[in-house]
Amino acid sequence: MLQQFLFFAITAFLIPLSLVRGLASDSAAPANPAAERGYRFLTDTALIPADFHESTFDEVWKAWPQPLKSRAAIVSPAERRTMAFDRYGLTTRPGDDSGKPLQYVVTADRGWSMNCFACHGGTVYGTPMPGAPNNRFALQSLTEETFQTKLRQGKRPSRMDLGAIAVPLGTTNGTTNAVVFGMGLMNARDSQLNLLFAPPRFFVNHDMDAPPWWYFYKRPAMYIDGFAKKGHRGLMQFTLVPENGPDFYRKHEDNFRDVLAYITSLRPPKYTGPIDQTLASRGESLFVQNCSKCHGTYGDDWTYPNVRVPLDEVGTDPVRLKALTEEGRKKYADSWFAHAGEADAQQTLTDPDGYVAPPLDGIWASAPYLHNGSVPTLWHLMHPDHRPVVWWPVSAQMDEEKVGLTIEQASEMPDSSDDLVLRRSFFDTRQFGKSGDGHTFPDTLSEPEKQAVLEYLKTL
Ligand code: HEC
Ligand code: HEC
Repeated sequence: MLQQFLFFAITAFLIPLSLVRGLASDSAAPANPAAERGYRFLTDTALIPADFHESTFDEVWKAWPQPLKSRAAIVSPAERRTMAFDRYGLTTRPGDDSGKPLQYVVTADRGWSMNCFACHGGTVYGTPMPGAPNNRFALQSLTEETFQTKLRQGKRPSRMDLGAIAVPLGTTNGTTNAVVFGMGLMNARDSQLNLLFAPPRFFVNHDMDAPPWWYFYKRPAMYIDGFAKKGHRGLMQFTLVPENGPDFYRKHEDNFRDVLAYITSLRPPKYTGPIDQTLASRGESLFVQNCSKCHGTYGDDWTYPNVRVPLDEVGTDPVRLKALTEEGRKKYADSWFAHAGEADAQQTLTDPDGYVAPPLDGIWASAPYLHNGSVPTLWHLMHPDHRPVVWWPVSAQMDEEKVGLTIEQASEMPDSSDDLVLRRSFFDTRQFGKSGDGHTFPDTLSEPEKQAVLEYLKTL
């Protein structure tokens, strides 16, 4: 229960939650010079203080449970680094043999500073891809184990180390409480982003699954409830650590114009398995009849209706909608991020009543599904009565039949005294903010019709 609330007095000063990067699927051909600069900026410029030094990361294996630790002790440093990347959901950068992680900027003095790709640059069934949601990111485990390593090395903890003791940064790998931190950090700023001494506040703490970036070009607004208009300034919220004063934001505006160009340039990866074209085209007409009014149409003449569906109609987990309060949304609306008081002031919605149906471009590649990541495959999304209660991914391979993560179901969570990282790979839909219910729209279809729509979804 306690962990559902984030006590903001400490966290305002503790969190370096943000930064990101990304590059098109095979990173080779940047879409345009601004997009290319945006990607370079995100991978090369530390926007928040380093979370830990490379020498800490390279010894983090000493904090691992057995038998993993003994195994790490006898392999080469390079293999050990691969083991550590796997454990925390990190990858190298496509098209770059420096060995640096995609998800962190490595500074000249070898500090590792989290970037946007920590959450927005993951793998698509084993292949690293900037812009794909990082569905394996183990932020809380990485923070705990680097903290232990720092203590052993006699180094000082970072703000995030201390914050993570009070409130977990994510209770399931691949999900984080990024949104809650954003709210907390914004609470400590005035409209022009000057730092305030803000009175302590409580926020409802919950985790979310990051959206892919490859459909952002279609969206007029941001976030699952679409409350904020899209723009380069809005993308900077993730850098609201106290070290970044108001000048930081003015100074980096052009950099974030490039970041926006980069994100906008991304497109989804193509489905890699076999597709039954006859079945898929039958699925397309069923999709147009049953799903398009919310999710739009696809192909060269695509449409995206940007439909917000009231909570009681969509029926998915309500926590995210309610946790972002009207007061918090107003704060954003009245701020520099939304160009408040300027000629181009943005309309911001302060009381949205539901979630916006996202575009489904590349939907096969962005499992798990729904805004909280509670549904592991598209088959489960299409079969609301058969969704798993507790599940965990058992391999990086795609489940080609169900289209999504290859999972097993469990009746209970594993014992917390076992490997905590392993425990956090389990998704328990009975926990706060993690419900896998709702979105029963597919139930108007017969079983053969569902199969056809599932086949069509592979083509998007
Ligand atoms: C710790 C994880 C994390 C980090 C780091 C992070 N994000 Fe996100 N991002 C999220 C989550 C979770 C959401 C979904 C929020 C929502 O819908 O309420 C999101 C949403 C977004 C969206 C909206 C997408 C859409 O279609 O609505 C954009 C754009 C975005 N992030 C860009 C960035 C940029 C740029 C950075 C780095 C400067 C960044 N993010 C860093 C987790 C993260
Ligand atoms: C009335 C509007 C509406 C209709 C009709 C509808 N959806 Fe949705 N859909 C939504 C909303 C809203 C969400 C986001 C819910 C959330 O994340 O909590 C969503 C989410 C999804 C997702 C998960 C997206 C992701 O990135 O996690 C998929 C897949 C999906 N819908 C497929 C379908 C299919 C297939 C149909 C037709 C059989 C359909 N939807 C019909 C509104 C709708």
